[in-house]
Amino acid sequence: MSETSANIETLKAEVLGQVASAGDERALEDVRIGALGKKGSVSLLMKGLGGMDPEERKVMGPALNALKTDIADAIGAKQRALHDAALDARLAEERIDVTLPPAPQAQGSIHPVSQVFDEVTAIFADMGFDVKEGPDIEDDFHNFTALNFPDGHPAREMHDTFFFHEGDDGTRKLLRTHTSPVQIRTMMAEKPPLRVIAPGRTYRCDSDQTHTPMFHQVEGLVIDKDTHMGHLKWCLEEFVKAFFEMDNVRSRFRPHFFPFTEPSAEMDIGYERVGNEVRVGQGEAWMEILGCGMVHPNVLKNVGIDPDVYQGFAFGVGVDRLAMLKYGIPDLRDFFASDIRWLKHYGFDPLDMPNLASGLSR
Ligand code: PHE
Repeated sequence: MSETSANIETLKAEVLGQVASAGDERALEDVRIGALGKKGSVSLLMKGLGGMDPEERKVMGPALNALKTDIADAIGAKQRALHDAALDARLAEERIDVTLPPAPQAQGSIHPVSQVFDEVTAIFADMGFDVKEGPDIEDDFHNFTALNFPDGHPAREMHDTFFFHEGDDGTRKLLRTHTSPVQIRTMMAEKPPLRVIAPGRTYRCDSDQTHTPMFHQVEGLVIDKDTHMGHLKWCLEEFVKAFFEMDNVRSRFRPHFFPFTEPSAEMDIGYERVGNEVRVGQGEAWMEILGCGMVHPNVLKNVGIDPDVYQGFAFGVGVDRLAMLKYGIPDLRDFFASDIRWLKHYGFDPLDMPNLASGLSR
């Protein structure tokens, strides 16, 4: 082997070594320039071809060309390897974990009536009330008789009841006219002390701007040994303040009549109209929002509770009316029209559950 061809082997080994150890595409480019660039080591050897005698050139020409090709091939292969490695690294870094749960996206909205049910429940739950439910289709006993409505008493007609056809046993079921039958069901199923609310649907044959044939109430019932009218007033005053999210709400209790409470009252809250808007809490006008009173001794007797030992209070709040007042909704009938534009406008975020800690409504 001539001296020059030994040089070629050394140079080849040296450059291929540099190629192998180039850590990135930039280092590899430096190697390429160092060997194949204009002033590169291989290029300089090629320039020497001109000064060789023909015999030597015949041998060295192909040898140098082969060297050049080998180095160029090695650089090309390394370049692809570095490129692939760079891509792999980037893909690994930008990987998306498709097993992660997606960020929740709310669909639809919560109806103002459902929102108010949730708000009222949050407030009374905070005061230690349990939630009870009863059937929409009731019988005369639970809706009237046990609640001390005597047979043929005009108070029965007061409710514009929807009756079903007479059944095989000769009785007629009815759509409950109030949530008060849940008082009876609760007291017959459980022993006092009791502290419950019963949200639900109620029905009366009635329809205008402030009445719909189906509407909603929340019943409340507290039975204990020394529960008195003062507890009733405190409880309901605290409730309206919490519900309307105000430090002060003007209110009054006005004597009334219900067969199942004695004494009975209706609670009014103060409001004023400013332009088209109803402002709750202050003002000279009064709006009735609920009926209440001390549970009548006859009702306690009807469910087997001794009225000489136990007493308590009950109330029934109109939920639709609360929603109209709090959220400024002018016509009750729109609540049940299922107009998607109305629902979008007045509806609430389904992922935002009302609670006293972060605020009832946001
Ligand atoms: N049930 C009565 C109504 O619907 C409201 C009420 C409930 C009154 C409980 C007193 C006690 O009008």
